Amino acid sequence: MEGKTISGFSKLSKMGKIKWIVENFFKDPDTVKRELASYLLDNEEQQRILDGFIENTISNYPLPLGVAPNFQINGTMYCVPMVTEESSVVAAAAAGAKFWLDRGGIRAEVVDTLKTGQIHFLWYGDEALLAPREEALSAFLIDSCRDITRNMDERGGGIRSIRLVNMTDREPGYYQLLLEVDTRDSMGANFNNSILEQCSHVMPRWFEAHVTDAVPVPEVIMSILSNYTPDCRVRTWVECPIPELGQFDGGLSPEEFARRFYTAVRISHIDTYRATTHNKGIFNGIDAVVIATANDFRAVEACGHTWAARSGRYKGLSKCSILDGTFRFELELPLSVGTVGGLTTLHPLARRSLEMLGNPDARTLMQIIAATGLMQNFSAIRSLVTTGIQKGHMRMHLHNMLLRLEASEAEAGAAIAYFEGRTVSYSDLRTFIEQYRTNPVGSEA
Ligand code: MEV
Repeated sequence: MEGKTISGFSKLSKMGKIKWIVENFFKDPDTVKRELASYLLDNEEQQRILDGFIENTISNYPLPLGVAPNFQINGTMYCVPMVTEESSVVAAAAAGAKFWLDRGGIRAEVVDTLKTGQIHFLWYGDEALLAPREEALSAFLIDSCRDITRNMDERGGGIRSIRLVNMTDREPGYYQLLLEVDTRDSMGANFNNSILEQCSHVMPRWFEAHVTDAVPVPEVIMSILSNYTPDCRVRTWVECPIPELGQFDGGLSPEEFARRFYTAVRISHIDTYRATTHNKGIFNGIDAVVIATANDFRAVEACGHTWAARSGRYKGLSKCSILDGTFRFELELPLSVGTVGGLTTLHPLARRSLEMLGNPDARTLMQIIAATGLMQNFSAIRSLVTTGIQKGHMRMHLHNMLLRLEASEAEAGAAIAYFEGRTVSYSDLRTFIEQYRTNPVGSEA
């Protein structure tokens, strides 16, 4: 334990923090210090911006920024920026987009863009006194927030509604105020939370003046936005006549492919084990764009999974139909993102990602992100119901495995040529490299 606890750590300079960490947690402090420093940006101004995102920054943690081209969404072409650590994700999104580019592209529409917030409070008065006063309370609260909402109101956003929800059947005295706000192009978390805190300050006063029941005023337990935003929702889909799907690996006809694909999606609605993996694949695509544009991927994921369980059972998020000879594949989910404010404009590469997308407004970004999730899901299921994913996946993974085996350029080149058209496994690759190292010319694993 000695040396491994510290008080006042946050007050140390960055170098002081690094020194303490490397000396107490690493066997080779000098090497680690150099390595941490090597990931810092040369541009001190930009590094200061990154340092400011979180507390106790000691270095940067790089992840690749890739792009998936050929996304045609509602007739506009996009090259989609994606940040992810998982091989095959960018390739799958790009392959899906290319497939549908030749079949009319991807369609998308925003259902609505309302964000939600809640004030949770306890009140033990007569319930019957509240319902008739709900509208007056709502008007009072909206009015009390004018200073906070003025700018947003001018931009066409602001508070859309405040409803009183009686939860006393689940917990004695428990009520909520449920707010719906339109935050336009910003994610709006601070805006939302500021409104909620303002409302929770003034609400007890309103009760004192208007609910003349001989009980204490409400006790606010907490006020916070909800990351479940079912009314901030987007729909995206692809469709074409079945024969246009073309032929698939293994001689699969378009009709057979459509049937197998439909069944795979159906299984994700029936079985929660499969639903989880199915949705994980969708979020492979969604998260990568959400991160590339410096949006909050934890919020987006949490919301998406709650939506997936809205019927009481967790299900796959996408839907497939085969009707009158048309194959249709669709994804509808809540997606709360912003294109102004927050880190979207502070992070230098998030700014470039947004520029690559033509500086979209939040509604357009919702469509692009959902479309990427749909393409990811399409490619995953296409592989699963035809060749299986391992063939393509392991080939993409080959590069990482070669790095792990510390393969030289010549060894890597020979391995790539050898495994072309073959299924790759780590043990086969290791055997190949070992044999190549003993007999570089005529190696045949
Ligand atoms: C891998 O990260 C994602 C998949 O497992 C998704 C799926 O099974 O649908 C390929």
